[in-house]
Amino acid sequence: MSIEPAYENILVRQEGRVGIVQINRPKAMNALNAPTMSEIMTALELFDADSGVGAMTLTGDARAFAAGADIKQMATSSAVEMLSSPFIGYWDRLRAIRKPVIAAVNGWCLGGGAELAMACDMIVAGEGAKFGQPEINLGVIPGAGGTQRLTRAVGKAIAMEMVLNARQLSAAEAAAFGLVNRVVPDERCLAEAVRLAGEIAARAPVAVRLAKEAVNAAFETSLSEGVALERRLFSLLFSTRDQKEGMAAFIEKRPADWQGH
Ligand code: CAA
Repeated sequence: MSIEPAYENILVRQEGRVGIVQINRPKAMNALNAPTMSEIMTALELFDADSGVGAMTLTGDARAFAAGADIKQMATSSAVEMLSSPFIGYWDRLRAIRKPVIAAVNGWCLGGGAELAMACDMIVAGEGAKFGQPEINLGVIPGAGGTQRLTRAVGKAIAMEMVLNARQLSAAEAAAFGLVNRVVPDERCLAEAVRLAGEIAARAPVAVRLAKEAVNAAFETSLSEGVALERRLFSLLFSTRDQKEGMAAFIEKRPADWQGH
């Protein structure tokens, strides 16, 4: 009998092969304190290790995906405490998740919340979603990857405005600037993210994991290193049963039966 962890700040469920993690601190606009981040990462890591799950969706509620790191938790911290605390490291744990994670964003997506969404692999936004890095208003800067991931996503001009001058982006602007994959009516946001995650979860699992690894490597490596990594991962897939099945299914004009090995 498996023992489910008891969560206080998130809700966790599964639909088909999609694991769904919902941030659930409505009174604090889903602000991300250490217990909440710890629970989010534990839930995602458990789904990552579960062969019955092929992709995950991370969401908040109608008012906020997350209004940032918890300001009340950080307000009196010293530099040494911030440097030695594991808190910001929770965002890095998302990078180690091997299966795709799709953020479903309604409402406020600010500061550490935007950094959490950007650390996911794709973002589906409700039309009322608002993205921003307002840390400058608090006398600090983004601390969980915002200056780097935002700049890579939207380019220097918009990133500078957002980080230096707290410019907010509407969902439509976020789509136009390449920050989000698609914008849907607010009430359709989670369903659309789960649908997209479900489509991916139905694909060849090892190829999906290596595809994610290869695309993410484009942000970390030179072109020649990235292309070399891609070549190795591509070749590695020829050791899987699913590669044989996928190519045989194409030739035999039938759907492939993926097994995940
Ligand atoms: N941390 C802690 N509590 C927060 C919070 C946050 N980031 N965001 C909102 N809350 C709390 C509010 O304090 C308030 O609590 P009380 O009822 O106890 O006063 C409750 O959530 C509701 O918030 P508001 O009354 O402010 O709601 P609103 O509708 O008027 O405004 C908002 C919504 C625009 C999101 C506003 O709450 C806001 O600006 N929040 C802060 C956004 C922010 O600065 N985020 C960056 C945080 S720093 C960071 O994330 C660092 C990093 O890079 C890792």
